[in-house]
Amino acid sequence: MTDHDTVSAAECGPAGDLDIPAPPLRGAWPLLGHAPALLRDPLALLAEAGRTGPLTVVRLGPVAAYVVTGPDLVRQVLVTDAARYDKGFQFDALRRLIGDGVGTSRGAKHRRNKRMLRPAFDRTSSRVHARNMTPQIEGFLDAQWDPAADPDGRTAPDGRPVIDAAVDLRVLSMRLITNSMSGSELAADEVMRALPGLLSGIGRRALLPVRALDLLPTPGNRRFDRSLRRVHAVADDMVARERERAAHGDAAAGGGSSLAAWLAAVDEDGTGMTDEQAHDEIMTLLLAGTETTAGVMAWCLYVLARDSELQQRVRLEIADVTGGKRLEPADMRRLELAERVVKEVLRLYPPGWLIGRRAMEETRLGNTRIPAGSQVLVNFYALQRDPAAFHDPDAFDPDRWKSLDQAAVAPYYLPFGSGPRVCLGEMYGMAEIFCVLCAILARYRLEPVPGTTVRPVARTTLHPDTVPLRLTRL
Ligand code: HEM
Repeated sequence: MTDHDTVSAAECGPAGDLDIPAPPLRGAWPLLGHAPALLRDPLALLAEAGRTGPLTVVRLGPVAAYVVTGPDLVRQVLVTDAARYDKGFQFDALRRLIGDGVGTSRGAKHRRNKRMLRPAFDRTSSRVHARNMTPQIEGFLDAQWDPAADPDGRTAPDGRPVIDAAVDLRVLSMRLITNSMSGSELAADEVMRALPGLLSGIGRRALLPVRALDLLPTPGNRRFDRSLRRVHAVADDMVARERERAAHGDAAAGGGSSLAAWLAAVDEDGTGMTDEQAHDEIMTLLLAGTETTAGVMAWCLYVLARDSELQQRVRLEIADVTGGKRLEPADMRRLELAERVVKEVLRLYPPGWLIGRRAMEETRLGNTRIPAGSQVLVNFYALQRDPAAFHDPDAFDPDRWKSLDQAAVAPYYLPFGSGPRVCLGEMYGMAEIFCVLCAILARYRLEPVPGTTVRPVARTTLHPDTVPLRLTRL
């Protein structure tokens, strides 16, 4: 790469436009480039990329990738020039594994998929789901977290239970999304058996899509293939059961489930959803809707456990808003402090910390020519910690949201993405997070377990590796 400050005739774009190559990120190794740093400490690499400038180039082995951190350029990639990009090679790999649902499909198919799914995840439907969630959450806590019912005897020396919120909330999140989709506890049990194996292997396969590696008959690959087959079978089963239910007019059984709504929906062109498409959407939502919300909830409990005063303020707010009863969907907008806590967690630990795109044609970002086929990485992690928008950006300070100019920070705060690929599950995910936090804080006082360290894991999503907590039943 030439000196980025130098503009020569050779650097001019196709239409003779100015072409200022993006500066390369420091610290590349010979041959390997930034791949070792990306694997060792991806968040430090992204922070450094953000400090280097709005657009920088990293090298992953022989491949150059553009890291986009500037808010204007992020908007260009996600919104104004969205049609020039697809989701890139990770999603080609993912499509082979989970099919062509709303998260992996492209062009007209993506638009149709999203149109058909949207009503099941809009505000009204999310409220219906939220109303069904609280009893399930309470049932889960009774079974898993109540000291008397603690099946694993996971207790601290003082007899109080210790739980790992990172693990348990993933389980809870899987149950909730499966139930919302299918309306069936049975499906949730089956998903629970197969999904963890799938989630743990899929991140590696999407990040490093080398098919030869996946075909080796290693125990890990065999386990993964088994899990994948089982989740596909569960998805097939869910669709078949729902079709049967609908054929017998058994509205009560599946009524209110997302799947029942999709299968009954008819698109603008007069056609409905095929079984294959419904199957692919189930696969997509099981992946997109579990680790994301589970990670956010675990981070929330982590920050609340470390700050007992903040925890108590949130608890009092919940009691005040709900009057000690179950959370009603309409109550959510009155949980102002809880909302600031969740917002701040989403700012510091966005599950979508780094999102890939591929330029389908030659294009430009600002004054830089981006060749067709280039890998573009949107650096949400550093964008949301930009000191130009957030004072003391690495500090956890929920009250900053009281005085922030929302319009001014909006381009720097995109935890659910933006543009045509914006998250489908924002309303649903936020409803789930509020229901879970309210149920937990109303029941337990949370404390960190001394001597334990919580580390961020930046893989498919950014989530905490473990969140051990001591619980006291209130
Ligand atoms: C707090 C929780 C969540 C966060 C922070 C989050 C974040 C995101 C982000 C940043 C994207 C954009 C990806 C891109 O531009 O390539 C996305 C896409 C998506 N999310 Fe979420 N998500 C969350 C929860 C959920 C839930 C609960 C569901 C399902 C019920 C879901 C379903 C999806 C789907 C289907 C897409 C793909 C949309 C498309 O390609 O058009 N998400 N999410």
